[in-house]
Amino acid sequence: MGPVNAPTVVILAAGQGTRMRSGTPKVLHDLCGRPLIDWPVAAARAAGAGRIIVVDAPGGTLGAHLGGEVEIAVQPEPDGTGGAAVAAAPLIDPATPVLILMADVPLVSAPAIAGLLAAHAASGAAATVATTVLEDPAGYGRIVRGPDGAVERIVETKTNGDATPAERGIREVNTGIYAFEGTALLGALPRLRADNAQGERYLTDALGILRSDGAAVTAHEVDEPLVVLGINDRVQLAQAREIVRRRIIEGHLLAGVDIVDPASTIIDADVTLGQDTVIEPFTVLRGATRAGAGCRIGPGATLIDVALGDGATVLHSYAIEAEIHAGASVGPFAYLRPGTVLRERSKVGTFVEVKNSDVGEGTKVPHLSYLGDADVGPGTNLGAGSITANYDGVAKHRTTIGAGVKGSIHTSYVAPVTLGDRAWTAAGSVITEDVPAGALAVARARQSNIEGYDARREAERKVES
Ligand code: UD1
Ligand code: MG
Repeated sequence: MGPVNAPTVVILAAGQGTRMRSGTPKVLHDLCGRPLIDWPVAAARAAGAGRIIVVDAPGGTLGAHLGGEVEIAVQPEPDGTGGAAVAAAPLIDPATPVLILMADVPLVSAPAIAGLLAAHAASGAAATVATTVLEDPAGYGRIVRGPDGAVERIVETKTNGDATPAERGIREVNTGIYAFEGTALLGALPRLRADNAQGERYLTDALGILRSDGAAVTAHEVDEPLVVLGINDRVQLAQAREIVRRRIIEGHLLAGVDIVDPASTIIDADVTLGQDTVIEPFTVLRGATRAGAGCRIGPGATLIDVALGDGATVLHSYAIEAEIHAGASVGPFAYLRPGTVLRERSKVGTFVEVKNSDVGEGTKVPHLSYLGDADVGPGTNLGAGSITANYDGVAKHRTTIGAGVKGSIHTSYVAPVTLGDRAWTAAGSVITEDVPAGALAVARARQSNIEGYDARREAERKVES
């Protein structure tokens, strides 16, 4: 709950989103690491919202997604934005101002919301609509003003039949963001009719209804056209992503992160990066990825929910849910899977895959290896072709390798198996039994040389021919 007079926020999210042509509800599509619906929720919170009511479709998943953060109202049928507001009405307190947001208008900012609320409070109007003037207002509702400049009503233009040609010429559009007095909104909602081109109940008609009641309706012009960008199809989603992507990158650049090629870099909204970290081209940082200072990431790195300590480096690699501690280096061409922990100054090199494993401080796994379900102590070196056989076809088992171990090339570790500190393995060994500390394990067939073999084969060939 916000302050006593904090507005109740109603976010309309029950539309079918047919223009997205998707099996996923429109408002759950991803925008730079967060579903669309999360953006207006966050903006409302940042602007000091009180209760937040989200209107979802029957059987919708927004309640599960947003958890206890919001109250959910269910709109029984997708009969328009008016129908959505009607669905929220039983949860609306008449004594509290109501802020209406559209879930598909994600770039709405907290300052824009706060500006609208301040203008609404100052004017004392029954309703205040946030408007903006667009070069290309196609598809948006238009603000019809009377000769005195007062807002008379909003006319829809998505389909033909609602607006006259003159009204279509208006460039001041409805952002879909409004502040209402609770009583005024609750009084207008039951009077919305679906007698229009789309056969829907338009929330926008509430303004005309209040006007004809003689109540004051005002417009608050927002000088920030991006605030209005509604996501109705995937072209608009791509436009919004590009705008947010650039904003995110700009934020990091101004905070001291070196992003070498902003155009080829994708960074999600919740990613954090320390000062003097360098992001090389073609790098994708997703989810809750966070890097300390002075890291070097890329070119060509994809990191999803990865934590990097100061000075870590990742070249041409793919990592998900991994920890790369300070000074550790990864790649080129490594694959780190969930549960990987690379401790300080460790190295996971070329064509190495690591899963659910802990690689000790300063330990090196430089080439062509697979570590699955392994714990490797500090200061160990595992040669090229070190492979853990962690799966026996039924269950996974752990491999435990101590500190200062020298695992030679082409060693298989058949888990469960343990190697003590400072143990050694001979090249080509298949380690099936524990190796005591300091011991050398030789687990391969001995070489035998058959002298004169080639001459013998040559003689046999001559006899046959
Ligand atoms: C709406 C406005 C338009 C404004 C534009 C701004 C109306 C009638 N029109 O048009 O004036 O310029 O937003 O982006 O309000 N929704 C429901 N239930 C429904 C239908 C929609 O909850 O039955 C929700 C949608 O999930 C969406 C929002 O309301 O988040 C807007 O719906 P949409 O169909 O996209 O309206 P627009 O055509 O964009
Ligand atoms: Mg829309």
